[in-house]
Amino acid sequence: MGGETTTTFIAVAMPERNIRRTRKRMKYLEIGTAIATDASRVGKTLHNNYLLNYAFPFIDSFIVKPMKQAPRNANASPRLAIAILAAGKGTRLKSKHPKVLHEVGGKALLAHVIAAARQVVSLKDTYAIIGHEAELVRQRVGGTGISFVVQEPQRGTGHALMCAEPALQGYDEVIVLSGDAPLITAETIRRLRDFRRQEKAAMTLLSAGLENPTGYGRVIRTTAKSDEATAIVEEKSCTPAQRKIREINAGFYAFSVKPLFANIHRIETNNPHAEYYLTDMAEVLHKAKQRVVAVKTDNPGEILGSNTRAELVELDRDMRRQKCLQLMAEGVTIFFPETCVIDSDVEVAADTTIEPFVQLLGSTRVGSDCRIRSYSVIQNSEIADGVLVRTGCVLDEARIEAGAVIGPYSHLRPGSDIGEGAHVGNFVETKKTRLGKKSKANHLTYLGDAEIGDGVNIGAGTITCNYDGVHKNKTTIEDGVFVGSDSTLVAPVKLGRGSYVGAASCITDDVPPDSLALGRAKQIVKEGWVKKRRDPSS
Ligand code: UD1
Ligand code: CA
Repeated sequence: MGGETTTTFIAVAMPERNIRRTRKRMKYLEIGTAIATDASRVGKTLHNNYLLNYAFPFIDSFIVKPMKQAPRNANASPRLAIAILAAGKGTRLKSKHPKVLHEVGGKALLAHVIAAARQVVSLKDTYAIIGHEAELVRQRVGGTGISFVVQEPQRGTGHALMCAEPALQGYDEVIVLSGDAPLITAETIRRLRDFRRQEKAAMTLLSAGLENPTGYGRVIRTTAKSDEATAIVEEKSCTPAQRKIREINAGFYAFSVKPLFANIHRIETNNPHAEYYLTDMAEVLHKAKQRVVAVKTDNPGEILGSNTRAELVELDRDMRRQKCLQLMAEGVTIFFPETCVIDSDVEVAADTTIEPFVQLLGSTRVGSDCRIRSYSVIQNSEIADGVLVRTGCVLDEARIEAGAVIGPYSHLRPGSDIGEGAHVGNFVETKKTRLGKKSKANHLTYLGDAEIGDGVNIGAGTITCNYDGVHKNKTTIEDGVFVGSDSTLVAPVKLGRGSYVGAASCITDDVPPDSLALGRAKQIVKEGWVKKRRDPSS
């Protein structure tokens, strides 16, 4: 069974509404062997001592019994997990795509939250709770190595945590983050964790003082000065007096796992959305005589969520403004930074200048002493030191070596590899092409699937005919070749080292080194022909 893994498990498959009733007298409906084709997933689930539902997508909803664990050393530090709520549909965005995959700063909301989480716990202890378009979300962020829990259907933030119980049971504490609040920092996550430990609380919630608290849940404290909170009231359920409270629930929590799951089934759905609200845990735990405390952030900016398009765009702008400020602090000059779009993961070295209306996207890296002129859009590309990118260039997955000059108006498509000191000029398109050191293709040219050596001159209007309607074919141009203007090179074809191609040639056969190739009709001159036509009697 190549690639398959067999594992023994005990699972109870039952409708979700029965889970609560059946918990105490769990009957194992199925004890058996599962065969999974993805060995790595099973490996990971076993590592956590649980079988998560993602390993067995054919079972809708089930509880899995934890396997036997070795007794823990009483002095061991608490086992901490992070759960990221990411199952919601994001109705207010009016989008067919899952909310947590909408981007700010050029990166999915959820990817930002994962980046903060991984600074506090290991990725395998980070669980994204997914549901709406779960497979899409899994595909987009699965590469990070985080774990997943599926919430299906999505019946509220409290229900999301109920679904994560089997995964989280083996931990001592869990920090809950919101997949739609991308500005959260590792520092704040640690603060939430430490405050709960220090206060020995069952639940700690992060709060913020907002000028305009509309739309957020409000935090009810025992007294204004007390750390202790008794409830969180959602906006729609607030009394007029509660609505005036400016201290809001940021949607980030730290829980002690035991009291959380001992009480979570007390949450009810008696609210306008008929959902299980995680926020109700504050009141539930308080009533169960468990300690609930609130810690207020000094930086309300970092808790902002993105429920609407307008909020998304605002977050995006803030993030990019921060990015420009960070780059400038590191020695990059950015003229009119408010016009530039620079994604969060982009790197730019000191002494590079970025002109107005430039976009640097994805994983782009730019060296030092470069100049990126206006209206260039550069994505997932690598640019070495001292490169000049003139106005209006589009680069995608391209590599540019030191001292090269690109543009204006060049289009470098994926796999373009431009050598040291090379020139790519106006209206030149390259794709899967290596252009060697100091080689030049300065005007109106298409170079696709080509391997071009050093010191080559590609004349204006040259075209590599790389596609025969079925296959892509390669053009090889060795060092020192001169290709005259308006030549078509029909691939597969090779121009030997030091050869010449006469202008306007159509080259279909290989050219030996140091040879001249001419592939055009011989010129005919008819002397006096025009004059005769103008004046037939002459
Ligand atoms: C929530 C809080 C609110 C708080 C605000 C802060 C609740 C009931 N309310 O409201 O007190 O002020 O965050 O931003 O929690 N999700 C799931 N499964 C579900 C429903 C939602 O995973 O069944 C996820 C969503 O994808 C989202 C997160 O939970 O990432 C928060 O849900 P959302 O609907 O945005 O809650 P808010 O209305 O913002
Ligand atoms: Ca939200």
